[in-house]
Amino acid sequence: ATTLGASAAARNRYFGAAIAASKLGDSTYTTILKREFTSVTAENEMKWDATEPSRGVFSYTAGDRILNQAQANGQKVRGHALAWHSQMPGWAQALSGSTLRSAMLNHITQVATHYKGKIHSWDVVNEAFADDGRGSRRDSSLQRTGNDWIEAAFKAARAADPGAKLCYNDYNTDGVNAKSTAVYTMVKDFKARGVPIDCVGFQSHLTDNAPADYQANLQRFADLGVDVQITELDIAGNNQTAAYTAVTKACLAVSRCTGITVWGIRDSDSWRTGTNPLLFDASGNKKAAYTAVLNTLNGS
Ligand code: G3I
Repeated sequence: ATTLGASAAARNRYFGAAIAASKLGDSTYTTILKREFTSVTAENEMKWDATEPSRGVFSYTAGDRILNQAQANGQKVRGHALAWHSQMPGWAQALSGSTLRSAMLNHITQVATHYKGKIHSWDVVNEAFADDGRGSRRDSSLQRTGNDWIEAAFKAARAADPGAKLCYNDYNTDGVNAKSTAVYTMVKDFKARGVPIDCVGFQSHLTDNAPADYQANLQRFADLGVDVQITELDIAGNNQTAAYTAVTKACLAVSRCTGITVWGIRDSDSWRTGTNPLLFDASGNKKAAYTAVLNTLNGS
């Protein structure tokens, strides 16, 4: 096939992009968005600070714009993110303990209920592990409500939207290392105890190369009985074409890898300013990395 989305669909996978509601009036942007992608993620519009700016006051305007535009284009929507220590609204940053715990659970219930039946996969918890090389939980106000905050979040999300796949999502978990092994151990424990979890998201904000054990890492999670998804792919540095090829091949080689999302459309849309880590240049032209991904999806 001739687009990322159609080529991925022929391999029974989605190919998505993170998008910003503020760019939906840019015709270069929307032309690529409609043509190439079968899934979208709101880059910021479904986060806690965006959806509950004041306690108990919910604001879905920007998130709904993304959802409605996607539905009109026949695209699926990935939900991002219900519980995350970053981009918490100021009022929630001021809470702690059981008050914060119940505010978080209410937030999850309300947002997942608002979008019930419309989200294919939710990042229920984002970035809860530390980068300390020991696989610790990240210290945060959410973590300080009790180590069971993650499973409480997943249970609330399942109750609110039983049809959505519920994912744990993180970065620097793309290869086998202390952090990814800590996530692995948590997922294994959740599966053993019946805590609802369906998928793990690997953000894959990479530089130069995918880890050599990228595919093996995806596979060990899949072997636990969860789907795996590449959720925020962008690749800085030299060797971009080869690295995008390797990531795409790895997803195709793991049967439970259900899709790939790139974190933006054009280089100029990327949060990694100045690194040009995406598949389209600032003018919307296809880059060599685009062609490499397309050809890999098409098996050539
Ligand atoms: O919307 C305001 C705007 O009104 C204001 O004028 C402007 C001035 O700073 O800020 C705008 O908000 C910014 C927002 O992006 C929208 O552009 C925030 O400051 C900025 O912090 C925010 O950055 C986002 C970042 O998450 C926040 O942590 C990035 O766009 C977004 O790409 C990034 O995405 C994260 C994923 O959610 C989780 N994984 C890592 C990934 C990259 O950091």
